[in-house]
Amino acid sequence: MFKINENYLKLPGSYLFSTIAKKVAEFTDANPDKEIIRLGIGDVTLPLSKAVIERLHSAVDEMADQSTFKGYAPDLGYEFLRSTIAKEDYEKRGCQIAADEIFISDGAKSDSGNIAEIFADDTRIAVTDPVYPVYVDSNAMAGRTGDYDPQTEMWSNVIYMPCTKENDFVPELPKETPDVIYLCFPNNPTGTTLTKEQLQVWVDYALKVGAVIIYDAAYEAYISSPEVPHSIYECAGARECAIEIRSFSKNAGFTGTRLGFTVVPKDLKCGDTMLHSLWARRHGTKFNGAPYIIQAAGAAVYTDEGKKQTREQIAYYMNNAKVIREGLISAGYEVFGGVDAPYIWLKTPENMKSWDFFDYLLNELYIVGTPGAGFGPSGEGYFRLTAFGSAENTKIAMERIKNA
Ligand SMILES: Cc1ncc(COP(=O)(O)O)c(C=O)c1O
Repeated sequence: MFKINENYLKLPGSYLFSTIAKKVAEFTDANPDKEIIRLGIGDVTLPLSKAVIERLHSAVDEMADQSTFKGYAPDLGYEFLRSTIAKEDYEKRGCQIAADEIFISDGAKSDSGNIAEIFADDTRIAVTDPVYPVYVDSNAMAGRTGDYDPQTEMWSNVIYMPCTKENDFVPELPKETPDVIYLCFPNNPTGTTLTKEQLQVWVDYALKVGAVIIYDAAYEAYISSPEVPHSIYECAGARECAIEIRSFSKNAGFTGTRLGFTVVPKDLKCGDTMLHSLWARRHGTKFNGAPYIIQAAGAAVYTDEGKKQTREQIAYYMNNAKVIREGLISAGYEVFGGVDAPYIWLKTPENMKSWDFFDYLLNELYIVGTPGAGFGPSGEGYFRLTAFGSAENTKIAMERIKNA
């Protein structure tokens, strides 16, 4: 008789977005005349840039011609894309990353969920709290996280590093020593960042204790502050202790198109074994490559036109972020993030529970956001709004909040 992976049974239900959808549906059924504004989404809304669309079309035409048709992509991605990334994302920022240290994938979610496979079964992980749930859940599926306590909403074998206004959303070095540390900056959900000096502290710590940092930089393109690093490889020593995960989703609107990459430097070793070899083996065995037309479109993001159009899209979202930040501040809210990230993290008034604040915004102001508690226990008392809505709706939402 077969047996199942019982670790899956320990996973708590992911009620966050289904509960939100249910509450919104109930409200609209009861109030069909009220215009709801959704500022809860973590998905882009602008269409793909012209440069990307044109390259998609021409790549499709290549597939229709026998002389340019492409079958399976190379395991680790097309050289044209990997060398463009190495040059544009790393060399230009003074980081030493070679094209063959870049693994093209179908997105950051798969990579951040799969990367744990190359570590030992008894690996102890550390995560910031609140957190993007994939890091913990993927380790829970592998049986590494101990038992889940629904009371505290924590796993017994995970090291949680709270990020709250009390520590300025900068995680403190953990008291217990982890093997793998997940860091995501600019952060989802808090929208906050680390300066290069603050990130260097983590790199130094990882080197000292022999840990690996998985650095999720999915929101890198939203950074405008000069002191905020775009890559962990801007920090000295990171080649020996860090894996970086990137995505074309939020940077260039590829959420539905699917493209990302992971960087595993060859200097990152366990004894004599390069993690690069393990990830290459895993990639080669379990992944058959991102589609040619999508990789070609990804390379178009780095052309002059592509860069200009992508910058315009980011500027559009970041203008929304500014409208939200300023609107909330003038309405008396305490606000974080939203400067180098499309997420605005606000403190709920008078320590209101984040789900109560959700109900208030929905029922009184017809605005949908995301309760902080949904991202982890330290998210209680906070609330996330996103800059991915339309400029018009974002303004209306802020008027509603200011006039409340
Ligand atoms: C922190 C973080 N990492 C990764 C992802 C997923 O990116 P992708 O669309 O490339 O799978 C998201 C998406 O919301 C995210 O917030």
